[in-house]
Amino acid sequence: MIIAFPPAADPAPHALVVLVGPGGAMSSGAAAADTASDGQVARAIAAARFDGEAAALVEILAPTGVNATRLIVAGSGPGQSADAAMFEKLGGAIVARLQTSGETRVTVDLTGFAGSLPAEGAAAHLAHGAELRNWRFDKYHTTMKPKQKPTLTNFDVIGVPGAESYHAQLAAIAAGVMRTRALVAEPANIIYPESFVAEAQDLRDLGIELTVLGEPEMKALGMGALLGVSQGSVRPARLMAMRWNGTGNADAKPVVFVGKGVTFDTGGISLKPPAGMEDMKWDMGGAGAVVGAMHALAARKSKSHVVGVVGLVENMPDGNAQRPGDVVTSMNGQTIEVINTDAEGRLVLCDAIWWAQEQYEPEVVIDLATLTGAIIISLGHEYGGMFVNDDGLAAQLEKAGKTSGEHLWRMPLGDAYDKLIDSPIADIKNVGPREGGSITAAQFIKRFVKPGVKWAHLDIAGMVWAAKAGNLYDKGATGFGVRLLDRFIAENHEG
Ligand code: BES
Ligand code: MN
Ligand code: ZN
Repeated sequence: MIIAFPPAADPAPHALVVLVGPGGAMSSGAAAADTASDGQVARAIAAARFDGEAAALVEILAPTGVNATRLIVAGSGPGQSADAAMFEKLGGAIVARLQTSGETRVTVDLTGFAGSLPAEGAAAHLAHGAELRNWRFDKYHTTMKPKQKPTLTNFDVIGVPGAESYHAQLAAIAAGVMRTRALVAEPANIIYPESFVAEAQDLRDLGIELTVLGEPEMKALGMGALLGVSQGSVRPARLMAMRWNGTGNADAKPVVFVGKGVTFDTGGISLKPPAGMEDMKWDMGGAGAVVGAMHALAARKSKSHVVGVVGLVENMPDGNAQRPGDVVTSMNGQTIEVINTDAEGRLVLCDAIWWAQEQYEPEVVIDLATLTGAIIISLGHEYGGMFVNDDGLAAQLEKAGKTSGEHLWRMPLGDAYDKLIDSPIADIKNVGPREGGSITAAQFIKRFVKPGVKWAHLDIAGMVWAAKAGNLYDKGATGFGVRLLDRFIAENHEG
């Protein structure tokens, strides 16, 4: 979809969107359309019981007196609530309504808009919401009927000159989000550790430095925990680091993101039940988010130093797979009793996090992982679970969650939970009791965080895949984490 900010509506056929607030408060574009159509706007909103609610839409097909194939009256909400999030939601709602409607072009009239953010911001965020909501994963459909196919090709916002440069920053972020979604949506016969790395190669074109470790290197480094997960798969594991330094200072300490990249999680010998197992193709959602965030930061030339590290493995049952009860040794020398081979994410993360700390000496480490089903029981699909060892970092992440709309809820950590993963025969075991399963998973990772490092673990199992469409995504891969991490860096680690 092509996004543009032309001075006036294109004469080509288009749907026209005009804004109306509560109490029938018409924007100048809405008032003009109402006059031209001899009061059709006022009559339609009365008939629809529309009161300008944010992102509510009333559609008038083939309006009279207006050069548009359809006229859409869009609610802008109460004046104070017309913020960036409202405009994104509105852009998303417009696209959701028109994407397969037969319309090819939509023109949103923001003439005379005055709200809590500058008009260019309103226009840019409107377009950003539209762009995010427009993404679909259709590549494997070969027999779609014409009426099911997207028709929308152009999204124009008129009445706001000069929104292009503001929008360019958001377009960089959208590109990152869409990249993440594409990785997450691909099935596991297409995306596996080697092909994941291959897909990331073009990050170099954005100025990102890539480092890839294969199994011999990881073996030499002693990554027995990560390699133990991978050993039942014919697909070899990879560890990939993506470094972006936009500070102009080679010595700047980086922020490190670490992503769980289990490209398919069968559970291993502790095999998962068949129902829903196909979902485990998105068990690399943490790694996908890290790739998308790196893309976004580099594409908008963020003045920050950030390294993204992803641990990529496939968890399969096989004659060579690890067994429940096996003891493996992680890179930092801790021994781990593998009670349940389905608690594999923490085994991948502990070596990836340790390696990242040794390699980059970060002050801040944030890991993202579809780590536990238990976090979905706790928080559903509204918040990612956040486990943090530093209150300042917790506050920063919570705020980035609010500004990005990708919300986090803080969960507890503590010694009483930590005790639950002591093993009778090794330093640590990879599962605790069923109760508090997300917390003991976080405690496991915490044992691999170096003293003095500020660390957050984000359990995003409930967030990377959606059973139904949201404001800014269709059902399927959401791209969760990219906007959150981008905001976190923008608000705390730039300049
Ligand atoms: N990848 C799963 C967690 C998961 C479950 C993500 C559902 C998304 C949706 C993880 O590797 C896993 O299997 N966790 C186990 C841990 C248990 C064995 C302690 C779980 O949550 O059941
Ligand atoms: Mn698992
Ligand atoms: Zn998993």
